[in-house]
This record gives sequence, C-alpha cells and structure tokens, in this order.
Amino acid sequence: MTTPHINAETNDFAPAVLMPGDPKRAERMAGMILDSARLVTDVRGMMGFTGTYSGSGEHYGKPLSIMGSGMGMPSIAIYATELFRFFDVERIIRVGTAGGISPDVSVGDVIIGVGAHTTSSMNELRIPGTHFSAIADLRMAAAALKAAEGTMNVFTGPIISADHFYFSIPGQLDAMVAHGVLGVEMEAASLYGVAAEHGKGALTVLTVSDHLTKKGTDMTSEERESRFQGALTLAIAAAFA
Ligand code: HPA
Repeated sequence: MTTPHINAETNDFAPAVLMPGDPKRAERMAGMILDSARLVTDVRGMMGFTGTYSGSGEHYGKPLSIMGSGMGMPSIAIYATELFRFFDVERIIRVGTAGGISPDVSVGDVIIGVGAHTTSSMNELRIPGTHFSAIADLRMAAAALKAAEGTMNVFTGPIISADHFYFSIPGQLDAMVAHGVLGVEMEAASLYGVAAEHGKGALTVLTVSDHLTKKGTDMTSEERESRFQGALTLAIAAAFA
C-alpha cells in the first residue's frame, strides 16, 4: 500500500509508532532502541523505521516503529491519518520538545500532554458548532506516568499546540500561564483530533527545550540527551500500554 506520503507495504509498520518531529532523530532513535531496524518509508526524506524493541524488560523483542512527523499540525495530520487509515497503526506517541510556559516547569523537565489547546482551526471543523477537546489516550498516559514513577519528575497537564513559532498575540502568553498551560509545541492537538477520528490512541511526551517565561535556563548538551532519554522511556511504556 503506497499512499501519497508513505511508500511502505501494509504490514511494514508495528501497531505503535513513536514520532519525533525530525526524521534524523527518528533514525538516531531507531539505532538506539530497535534491533533489526529497517527503513520502511522515505517519501520527502520523512524516514520511518520498523524493528523490534532492543531494551531490557518485558517489552524486549516486540515490534515497534519510529517515524518523523515533520513540523506543525498539517504535517503530523497527514502522516498520522495515513498510518491509522492504511497501515493498521493503533497508537502514535509523539516524542518532541516544547517551550516551557508554566513557571512550575523548567528546561529539561518532561511533560505528558494530556490535553492540547490550539491556535489552529484544524479541529474546529470536526464537530460542527463545537469546540473540540483534543485529549490523549488515558491508558497510554497512565502507562507513561507509571514508567516515570520514582525515576524522574514529570508534569501532566495541558499544553498548547501553536501554528506560529515566531508570533503570538499580545496577552496570549500571560493567559496561558494563568490557565496552567505547561508548554507550547506545534503538533499534539491535530494528532489527538486525527486519533479521535479513527478511534485510535495517541499521546505526546515532551522534553522542555527552552522556556518562554523563565529566561536564561538553557540545558547543557549532556542534560539535553539524558532528559531526552527520560521522555523516550515514557514513550516506550505508552507504546506497549
Ligand atoms: N514554540 C513552539 N514549539 C516549540 C517551542 C516553542 O517555543 N520550543 C520547542 N518547540
């Protein structure tokens, strides 16, 4: 089954797909956590890999896929729709980065985005006359949270999926802080909408890579890698939930 954006066979994907934004990160992740990883799609350079989980524990040897989503809601919606609709994928876990919003979170922290506000109109069109609630799969979120227990400090709560990286309306950031938004990224709300449309599961696990209300708190490169590992551990737990 070749779709407009995925040149793979129908059974080339595992039931769960981890989705970083960057296809090069997908390739690095495949090298880190998959045995026998093979490239299953590369249309527009958006690489997808399938192999078996190489980590120790109960999930060792289970099939798992990793594919880039690109940046922004239209991009992830295209890949998520084709994966759910044509490749029998059951769960997608976005593994990405976020800008910190809440002063409670710090650069390096991990956020499980259980719901996603959005500046996008993509979900407005789903149920006429209705403000759609873009929510994660609770079973997957619970598995991720359980995997974090005792090993890392993790935040669960609302995130915002923005269309603009370089633009915001005056007052928007203050209102986000006032409403307890943990961080901003650019994909989760449409991923959750697409998952709802297809009766499938989705989750977003984010590492806070920069901060919009607490300046000057950038991570060192070692911190970046170790914190990213934390988010990946949670995403793997959700993949096999
Ligand atoms: N804005 C949107 N997406 C992001 C950011 C940000 O500041 N940081 C990481 N992803």
